[in-house]
Amino acid sequence: MSSKDGFRATFGYEPTGTWVAPGRVNLIGEHTDYNEGFVLPFAIDRSTTVALSSRGDSLVRVASAFADELVELPLAELAPDRLAGWSAYPLGVAWALGEHGADLSALPGVDLYIESTVPVGAGLSSSAAIESAVAVALDETWELGLDRRALARVGQLAENKAVGAPTGIMDQSASLLGLEDHGVFLDCRSLESQVVELGFRAAGLEVLVIDTKVSHSHATGGYAARRASCEAGARILEVSALRDVTVDDLARAQRLLDDETFRRVRHVVTENQRVLDTVAVLRSEGPLAIGELLDASHTSMRDDFEISVPELDLAVVTARENGAIGARMTGGGFGGAAIALAPREAIEQIAAAVRAAFASRDYAEPATFTVTAADGAHRLR
Ligand code: GLA
Repeated sequence: MSSKDGFRATFGYEPTGTWVAPGRVNLIGEHTDYNEGFVLPFAIDRSTTVALSSRGDSLVRVASAFADELVELPLAELAPDRLAGWSAYPLGVAWALGEHGADLSALPGVDLYIESTVPVGAGLSSSAAIESAVAVALDETWELGLDRRALARVGQLAENKAVGAPTGIMDQSASLLGLEDHGVFLDCRSLESQVVELGFRAAGLEVLVIDTKVSHSHATGGYAARRASCEAGARILEVSALRDVTVDDLARAQRLLDDETFRRVRHVVTENQRVLDTVAVLRSEGPLAIGELLDASHTSMRDDFEISVPELDLAVVTARENGAIGARMTGGGFGGAAIALAPREAIEQIAAAVRAAFASRDYAEPATFTVTAADGAHRLR
């Protein structure tokens, strides 16, 4: 059911508008965003749509295709500790807009209905897609005039405070700034961004997503622990963020840090450099030449940052053995998806080989599908 049909069925009248925001694949630059470093994600052709209409009172009501309940609250009563479950994403965005200057006690309430084709828990930022779709919908409806950087901050604030996941700014930025066939090269310190042509189609390449079905959550456990290690490393190295440490500083870092913290730091420092190198290589030689950088990124996450799982490693190795020019896990890790960049004609064989490899180890059957780089959030009608 489209979000418009869902809206009509739930609320019994027509929405005034429909907005869409995509999920993302991160091409390279993992766990660099909250270290104020560089990332190169792209928005994908899987997205969340939000149908919305203003109300005559100050109530906000949200419904979605992924839950039966209708959740409602007066706008002025929105607060992180009153939000839970799936509705914390859209309602968290409305609250976060208030933190960014919207006067929630004076604005009209809204009805909104959410529907999504971004798989949940696959590491493709289904949550940022919801946040970005709701953010652009409310920004336009309430005539707030916030730019895309501010809306990315709004989505991140909702994720951090209303959902409770201590994540960075990458996912919302990709969803808001994406462009067809382009990556979003983002400096997570200044939030300056450039779109970089990927040229996959012209080079005969496709991106295969391998969703391991190993579910992960960034509101608990490993993600926060990695973030804490990075912050500890930065403190000992006396920099405000690991962005300020370069590959040349690593020998000194190794003398000052314990082994585990050093390896966490080395991942972030080398990953930042790999993002810069990937952008340079895409511009000078094109996408056929970035495979080694993708592979090195995965190795660094597996061995130094230790956020991979056996299913992701198997997907990556199998993809490479069957014709991928590069492969790596994507997203926060501890489960979720891997991506393989491969010639179009090798995609089916890679997918079949990964499924067979998973079956032979009694792993759950992975989902495999291709994605293309798509436009960021916008109004549909
Ligand atoms: C998750 C977070 C992002 C980023 C990645 C790792 O997707 O939401 O902010 O930290 O993990 O690169």
